[in-house]
Amino acid sequence: MNHYMLIKRFLYMLLSFLLFTEFSLAQEGRQVVNFDKGWRFSLDSSVDASSPDFNDQSWRMLDLPHDWSIEGDFSKDNPATPEGGALPGGIGWYRKTFMLPPADKLKELYIAFDGIYQKSTVWINGHKLGFRPNGYISFRYRITRFLHFDRNNVISVKVDNASQPNSRWYSGSGIYRHVWLVRTGKLAVDVWGTYVTTSTVTEREAQVKITTRVLNSSGKVTHYNIRTLILDAAGKTVAERVSSTVTPGDTTSEMSQQITVHSPRRWSTEHPYLYKVVTKVVQGQTVVDQVTTPLGIRTFHFDPREGFSLNGKSMKILGVCDHHDLGCLGAAVNRRAMERQLQILKGMGVNALRTSHNPPAPELLDLCDSMGLLVMDESFDVWRQQKVAYDYHLYFNQWHERDMTDQLLRDRNHPSIIIWSIGNEIPEQTDSSGTGIAHDLAQIVRKYDSRPIVTANDKPRANNYIIRSGEFKLIGVNYHHKEYGKFDKTFPGKVFIGTETTSALETRGVYDMPSDSIRRWPDNKEMKNGLGRMNSDFTVSSYDNVSAPWGSLHEETWKLIKKNDNLSGMFIWTGFDYLGEPTPYTWPARSSYFGVVDMAGFPKDIYYMYKAEWTKTPVLHIFPHWNWPQGKLIDVWAYFNNANEVELFLNGRSLGIRKKKGDDLHVMWRVAFQPGVIKAVSRKSGKTVLVREIRTAGRPAKIELAADRSNIKADAADLSFVTVKVLDSLGNVVPGADNLIKFTLSGKAVLAGTDNGCETDHTSFKSADRHVFHGLALAVIQSEEQPGEVTLKASSEGLKPASIHLTIR
Ligand code: GAL
Repeated sequence: MNHYMLIKRFLYMLLSFLLFTEFSLAQEGRQVVNFDKGWRFSLDSSVDASSPDFNDQSWRMLDLPHDWSIEGDFSKDNPATPEGGALPGGIGWYRKTFMLPPADKLKELYIAFDGIYQKSTVWINGHKLGFRPNGYISFRYRITRFLHFDRNNVISVKVDNASQPNSRWYSGSGIYRHVWLVRTGKLAVDVWGTYVTTSTVTEREAQVKITTRVLNSSGKVTHYNIRTLILDAAGKTVAERVSSTVTPGDTTSEMSQQITVHSPRRWSTEHPYLYKVVTKVVQGQTVVDQVTTPLGIRTFHFDPREGFSLNGKSMKILGVCDHHDLGCLGAAVNRRAMERQLQILKGMGVNALRTSHNPPAPELLDLCDSMGLLVMDESFDVWRQQKVAYDYHLYFNQWHERDMTDQLLRDRNHPSIIIWSIGNEIPEQTDSSGTGIAHDLAQIVRKYDSRPIVTANDKPRANNYIIRSGEFKLIGVNYHHKEYGKFDKTFPGKVFIGTETTSALETRGVYDMPSDSIRRWPDNKEMKNGLGRMNSDFTVSSYDNVSAPWGSLHEETWKLIKKNDNLSGMFIWTGFDYLGEPTPYTWPARSSYFGVVDMAGFPKDIYYMYKAEWTKTPVLHIFPHWNWPQGKLIDVWAYFNNANEVELFLNGRSLGIRKKKGDDLHVMWRVAFQPGVIKAVSRKSGKTVLVREIRTAGRPAKIELAADRSNIKADAADLSFVTVKVLDSLGNVVPGADNLIKFTLSGKAVLAGTDNGCETDHTSFKSADRHVFHGLALAVIQSEEQPGEVTLKASSEGLKPASIHLTIR
């Protein structure tokens, strides 16, 4: 073969390769561009900044996500009230100016908002695109026909969070989730246009059904192929299907494909194995659009007698309810902050999350998919009847169908979601209108998905108008723990789930004795008496001896759930403390006491009861601290697992061995205090399992800093959470310490917030000065886009300072 022929042969091979392989297909596809950068912001109710000509040059420049409330100062006079977190609301405007290339004329463009709190109105170049009152819903506008390709475009967003109270918890204010500019061709998968379900799942195979809705905005009848690939977690194609179809001009059309996955790996809470479904819209040889959808292959079932099972394996749903705030970062979405919260919860054995009482940020669901947490995705806290003056009841009639539809279309591909909750403690439980509304909402859900539907009922009675609608196989019960055993009779043949339980109260580091005296706070008598018997410093004991009167202690609740097989699980109110709802107090308290973990992310003692019960990790946790007046009788508690007994020693002298009896979840010693060392040893069949010691701390002497991650990404989003401890000269945490720490940061990074978990601290979360609370505080460092070294210094009068280095890359 001569030279020329060789080249010809090579070119021919190359051409056929290009023509007949995936690789050849030109990728015109979609672009989803993060649109968070470079907005102008003003908190000003007096302007109308909707016009493109409005001069915003004096406004503050910022990047989203942004929550203006968290930047504000606490005051009991803020219209949100302490119930809503006592931070400012108001009306804010955001504007962004941007250019588009002329090539975009041939595209479709959308502006997509993951969530704006609340009542947002959006304009592009002066054209009003729409209004969305719901602060937790994701939505997008098609903006193509209003755009300029030869000059600037201006997008203006008005956010109205002025009418308050509109929430029973801290909502945040502003464009607090991400914004995206989405570019597609004229033939593209529609918004939330794929729906992936699995029907039969066996060891041998899973039948995966993929429905794809395609929008043809070309004005012409268009023929094309939908090529769907299923990739395993390593990115290898394990199944594929190509189907050809046709869509008339300016319509959407839907097509379904069945694909078999052989020997499927299951998604579970221990092994959250994820496949990917890649949908390609192919016209001729060109891939004109491509979207990826997560696929978790799993089955689950709720049984009236046996409760919940996942992939045929019976298990309890061990969940928490959480609101959306991220502690000192407020409502502003940050993926790492969410991931940290979920990691802390998983550490105590949590396997499920209830997104109380609204649709979450999309990232949270991605994290639950990949970390293996089951989700109860909730829609509403109210329907037509209000809980507070300006809440969603004002918009329910006009907006519920649209909002629920958007929620379902956005969320239904997440394998983590196992339940749709269509309402929390809805007042219509006692109003005959509840039946009809429940029918309507259940119908909306069923139109889009077949997963179980619940309402979270605080009136779980036969005459509950919502339950009477007959729409629910799964009955959600909030509280009423004493009736768990009776539900079978009230609702024969139904399955039950503790959609909300507990509402116990604790302040980290506070111990009121005797620990076995149970308090239900606030009780009516105490409220009438001006909270006389409650703690004058607005704290609550951490011995698991206080709950709200409608709730129950952690141990009380878990013992019952453990016993009742028909109760498929529980969602503790709450995993984390949150801003707002400072039960059992009001101002000066401004955040909740319900959390198993405080707002800064520091576990309260009860965390270890769950960890001992819900995980296989060996646990021995003793408390309280060991700094008390001489001779005072101190209750020492131990939570433990993997052992039959614990022996306690005070300064080397045994105080006896304790074993759990019956359904005990802790053991206790009553000890006359002497300074020194209290030491616990857990043993199994005589062999030591774990040893724990607490020493009486001396005076505060030094600061210690520890970062959860000392290498973070230079993406202007990644975070390092730095724990601050005040120690005595020997390195013991000083339990009573409340020293004021001053932080200074050098290098290219931002001090995004500081906190200490104290429910009455009125220092702004953005402050670089923060008191430690019971010896601990938190500083959150956020990267910028520049790599480099960063140093955080912490100093305090009379204490040896500390510093810590972080690498940003
Ligand atoms: C429930 C309610 C929650 C929260 C909780 C506090 O009744 O559903 O949103 O208010 O009480 O105990």
